[in-house]
Amino acid sequence: MHILEICYTIPSRWGDKMIKTPTRYLSMDPKLPNLSHLQQAAEILRKGGLVAFPTETVYGLGADALNPEAVEKIFIAKGRPNDNPLIVHVANPKDIKPLVRKIPDVATTLMELFWPGPLTLIFPKSDLVPNSVSAGLDTVGIRIPAHPVALALLKAARIPIAAPSANLSGRPSPTSATHVLKDLNGKIDAIIDGGKTSVGLESTVLDITGQVPTILRPGGVTYEQLEEVLGHVEMDPALIQPELNAALKPRAPGMKYTHYAPRAEIWIVVGTEEQVAKKLKSLVDENRAAGKRVGIMSTEEMLFFSREYNPNPDHWEILGSKDDLTGIATRLFQALRNCDRYHLDIVFTQTLPETGIGVAIMNRLHKAAGGKIIRAN
Ligand code: TXA
Ligand code: MG
Repeated sequence: MHILEICYTIPSRWGDKMIKTPTRYLSMDPKLPNLSHLQQAAEILRKGGLVAFPTETVYGLGADALNPEAVEKIFIAKGRPNDNPLIVHVANPKDIKPLVRKIPDVATTLMELFWPGPLTLIFPKSDLVPNSVSAGLDTVGIRIPAHPVALALLKAARIPIAAPSANLSGRPSPTSATHVLKDLNGKIDAIIDGGKTSVGLESTVLDITGQVPTILRPGGVTYEQLEEVLGHVEMDPALIQPELNAALKPRAPGMKYTHYAPRAEIWIVVGTEEQVAKKLKSLVDENRAAGKRVGIMSTEEMLFFSREYNPNPDHWEILGSKDDLTGIATRLFQALRNCDRYHLDIVFTQTLPETGIGVAIMNRLHKAAGGKIIRAN
């Protein structure tokens, strides 16, 4: 990596102190992208460097998608297994032409309806896309992000940008610049801070190379939205039975890895609200007696149900109301990161309704828990 030994002032929320970091910190109001900062970031990308930037889903760690050496740096900075392909970000639908061998009819409809937005489409790739981007597959995932800073950066750089989520591999995806710096400060050339991301979970990955469009990763565009447009859409079987995940081979290579995980063990407690509330009390008591720092991560409704049993965890992380799954999606990765912030050893959480964005939320929770489930019923 090209390291610039410069001190940058990390602003107010970092206490305005000078910290010595080779990562250039570029801040901008998403409604008014700063042209000088955009040019600096675009220049770094064009020269083969790494720039983290906000998208509407999570922060991405960008590199020139057509420069294999630049792409290689992403894998090194993140500690990412090299069999896990990267998503390529472009500014305009016409930019995908050189990157793909074929644009299926269904893609044209989906691009019109959902781009810019949190939908990644899997195409047969052209030879222009380096093998390191596609991790040896003959396909490539592409999307146009719906964030003014991401779009302005793509336009300023005038190159397709390969970008996974800007976290260390295995950690929760970053929904703020603070999260990115926590994981990657000093390992990347620059970060653009454009505030918190709005969706909070990553894009939906949809494979359109086969007969039936198949969701490989649930995300910001829901199953219901896709079904309404396509009539028929399938879920990768490895997604439907998370408990059997290890046995099934997901078609999105990234989905087989433990993900989104804080250092604390996460357990999902399954049952009715009443049953779960009761079970939480005994789980907290047992684990605190064993000397562990115990957390509960739940809806506000669960907090209400639990009053009768009065559990006493070291930390209680409220995700929001189960009636506001969109809000929970925006807070989930922060909540998972808070488990580390409060030095928890073990955290008990619950299931949420698997409708709309709830499918993606539960997918991330099952990944964070690594399949660990306790039945309260
Ligand atoms: O919202 C997002 O998608 C964010 C922002 C930055 O755009 N990016 C993101 O990238 O989440 P990443 O690398 O963290 O996750 C990409 C997922 C992985 O599970 C990967 O295996 C899958 O997409 N994927 C990428 N290219 C693929 C391909 N050609 N075939 C199958 N799955 C692919
Ligand atoms: Mg990721």
